[in-house]
Amino acid sequence: MTKVTEIAPDIFWVGAIDWHRRVFDRFFSLPHGTTYNAYLVRGKEKIALVDTVARGFEDTLLEKIGQIVAPEDIDYIVMNHAEPDHAGAIPRVMAAAPKARLVASRRGVEMAGDFFDVPPERCQAVTDGQTLDLGGKTLQFLDTPWLHWPETMSTYCLQDGALFSCDFMGAHLASHKLFAEDVGGLAIPEAKRYYAAIMMPFASRARRALDKIQGLNLRLLAPSHGPIHKNPSLIMEAQRKWASGPLEPKVVVVFATMYGATDTLKKALVDGLLAAGAETVEYDLSVADISHIMADLVDARALVVGSPTFIGGAHPLVSSAVETVCTLRPPGKVAAVFGSSGWSGGAVSRVKARLESVGYQVLEPLEIRGSPHTEDLEAARALARQVAERILAE
Ligand code: FEO
Repeated sequence: MTKVTEIAPDIFWVGAIDWHRRVFDRFFSLPHGTTYNAYLVRGKEKIALVDTVARGFEDTLLEKIGQIVAPEDIDYIVMNHAEPDHAGAIPRVMAAAPKARLVASRRGVEMAGDFFDVPPERCQAVTDGQTLDLGGKTLQFLDTPWLHWPETMSTYCLQDGALFSCDFMGAHLASHKLFAEDVGGLAIPEAKRYYAAIMMPFASRARRALDKIQGLNLRLLAPSHGPIHKNPSLIMEAQRKWASGPLEPKVVVVFATMYGATDTLKKALVDGLLAAGAETVEYDLSVADISHIMADLVDARALVVGSPTFIGGAHPLVSSAVETVCTLRPPGKVAAVFGSSGWSGGAVSRVKARLESVGYQVLEPLEIRGSPHTEDLEAARALARQVAERILAE
């Protein structure tokens, strides 16, 4: 029998731990696995399940629910978010709970039909601020759209000050220890890496949601991935900084090299950054994990990209990393580009143009032919000084 934990009076964690999943969305590494958190709220008159689990974990969920109530007695299935890692079990749960209605935002109800064939007559659309009385437990639904899909909402249990925020403020971290306070130092760093990959493009929405929940008497923050927070202010303050700044005087250097020329330029450039007093983090794209790069870019003021020319353009590893950056939109907007080419060149201009297309202010780039010479290394150090001056003056 798997363990059910009562996280507040008559509120039970009935989720699943996915110890072995190692990638999310086919690009985001999960070194610690993840959890799909689902919560059963037992009122005196009605029973609600808040979110479900991913496909493949339905038996775990139903077995845990069965330790508390008969699944057929569930009255409401609250779907804060339609993505299948939380809603994938909805068809099985709705079959096991034939009288249950699915509660979601208007867009969520549409998606429940699109993704899971839930018929409209079994759905109940709710609006911002609307409440659902379970008898001694009142659920209030809060619109928190675009965190990170259009239909996303949060559910707040008034009596317990418990907010079920779904993906927002989550982290990919599998553990039998349910609470952030018990998982050592991993809770905040993993939440940051999660924020970078999932929420960073929606920073303005995150700020709005934080403003919205700031006035609640929050005592428990229960996201749908990773640890539950008994002291919500810690994670909320961290999220506020990631979404609003201030940024750190930090430079993230990413590069690829084929025969070492771009690497040699990179070394001179990093020497220049460090000599100028800029905190510097570097990633060789042939071995780096893109999720760590993105996490560092959450609060870095500058990005520096090094690429050899590869058939007239950037090295494929660089192209991929730059596209990821342009998609996830980190807040720091100072950039520099450098690299070596064999004959035609082209990597540096392509990367510069792509970064400028999403608002980066790219300093005059450095592109050399062949192996770096003394004057090339000096040019790399000079470029580093320009980057450092820009970020240290901010
Ligand atoms: Fe964890 Fe957007 O799903």
